[in-house]
Amino acid sequence: MELKNQNNHWLPQGHGALSCFSLLFFIVFFSSSFTQLSHASPSMYLEQRAVKPRHMRLLKSALEREVSTRQLSDLWAPLENQGWRPCVECGSEPSLPEKSEGYIQVFLDGGLNQQRMGICDAVVVAKILNATLVIPYLEVNPVWRDSSTFMDIFDADHFINVLKDDVSIVKELPDEFLWSTREYYAATTRDTRIKEAPVHASANWYLKNVLPVLRSHGIAAIAPFSHRLTFDSLPMEIQRLRCKVNFQALRFVPHIRILGDAVISRLRYPQGSAGEMGTNHLQMATDAYYKRRAGKFVVLHLRFDKDMAAHSACDFGGGKAEKLALAKYRQVIWQGRVLNSQFTDEELRSQGRCPLTPEEIGLLLAALGFDNSTRLYLASHKVYGGKARISTLRQLFPLMESKKSLASADELSQIKGKASLLAAVDYYVGMHSDIFISASPGNMHNALVGHRTYLNLKTIRPNMALMGQLFLNKSISWSEFQQAVVTGHWNRQGQLR
Ligand SMILES: *[C@@H]1O[C@H](CO)[C@@H](O)[C@H](O)[C@H]1NC(C)=O
Ligand SMILES: *[C@@H]1O[C@H](CO)[C@@H](O)[C@H](O)[C@H]1NC(C)=O
Ligand SMILES: *[C@@H]1O[C@H](CO)[C@@H](O)[C@H](O)[C@H]1NC(C)=O
Repeated sequence: MELKNQNNHWLPQGHGALSCFSLLFFIVFFSSSFTQLSHASPSMYLEQRAVKPRHMRLLKSALEREVSTRQLSDLWAPLENQGWRPCVECGSEPSLPEKSEGYIQVFLDGGLNQQRMGICDAVVVAKILNATLVIPYLEVNPVWRDSSTFMDIFDADHFINVLKDDVSIVKELPDEFLWSTREYYAATTRDTRIKEAPVHASANWYLKNVLPVLRSHGIAAIAPFSHRLTFDSLPMEIQRLRCKVNFQALRFVPHIRILGDAVISRLRYPQGSAGEMGTNHLQMATDAYYKRRAGKFVVLHLRFDKDMAAHSACDFGGGKAEKLALAKYRQVIWQGRVLNSQFTDEELRSQGRCPLTPEEIGLLLAALGFDNSTRLYLASHKVYGGKARISTLRQLFPLMESKKSLASADELSQIKGKASLLAAVDYYVGMHSDIFISASPGNMHNALVGHRTYLNLKTIRPNMALMGQLFLNKSISWSEFQQAVVTGHWNRQGQLR
């Protein structure tokens, strides 16, 4: 979605063209939808209640599935060594320019993972320009609404230190440039503001358009900056630096890592933590299960919030109330201008353009051979439709956990209500899982697929078009479904491509 976003609005972009005017609506709408939550308005209630399983026949068989030991051991086996290793440290010695051309400031839109990509690009752009980078400014996204700064999320000293021989990075501008703030650029056109960076701009574009600004003013502020640097035809050294930022320099702050480690350990050793946490549903599994597959878990990233459901324009089986609610949301937020709404649900599904519902990703996992004793960690924000929407998935995978079920209120207090920090914990747990899978190929999915590939970790990439077509087929049997799912995913688990 964000890739198509070529407009140059200063304000953060959720999807597509958000004018300042529509942003105002956005805020009004969001605050009203939040109050609705607490008052549980009738329409909200209908939206929650209307969710029934959509693929009853498949679900019935999935609940009775039997999984062979061989299938299970293939599924859980780590990826084999594919004969390649990371080469962030290969190549020539890094070096700093003799003198800095000036300061680069970037203002990053999006959620945590879109911002993460922006940070990698920012370091690289500073390198291309021989400039000094100011720790990136993270915009507050209208969907996620978290005002956490770079330093609230990432370990800034580690970041600066790991990159110290490649690019100079400062936490703050020196006094003479303190005027160069977010507020200063929000006002009017400014000579030091670069706002026309095209999507996937080349290194030359930056040399031609930003270097002169740096040379005459000593500073350049680039916004918007999401996806503003190409992946192609950059020198190998530059690509390596991008990897170094992403895989070595970006480390979460200690309290996120500590919480993540606690969650991981409770997933791996559920008995020990169950007593401590006062919850015992993990203990429901048999001892034999623990012996067979001690400690392994899957992380399922499930982004299925109202924003995404509405933007996809797909039918999620919630009936008339849901359809109306999503159409209304599209009207309010995007004035109905949503490309997907020109297509029928069938067309969208067969092209793989519909996010998988919790039920559908559950059926995919069941078909791949995950049995009901699989420990599943749900990495998710709000799920549209609430508990009702999740219940089918929970039926298929009763040992489903999340931050909320595994950590105490006290442990969660530091990240409560902060979407980026919550996402950071999920990212961290996702990086430490035996298997990662995402129900929709967005920024989090892309970030994890990339990072896990770097470490040769198993990551299942759902074949969205195949799944869409299979779910459209109302006469397919469970065994045909299962066969098609297994065949369609054997080469999508982290193999080199
Ligand atoms: C950056 O510095 C290096 C070495 O110090 C130099 O070779 C290169 O031409 C410089 N690039 C720019 C854009 O000034
Ligand atoms: C898993 O399924 C088996 C057989 O269908 C059933 O006996 C068992 O109770 C289920 N386990 C859990 C944890 O629900
Ligand atoms: C549904 O699946 C069955 C079994 O794979 C297949 O024979 C049939 O052609 C499919 N129907 C459609 C409409 O694709």
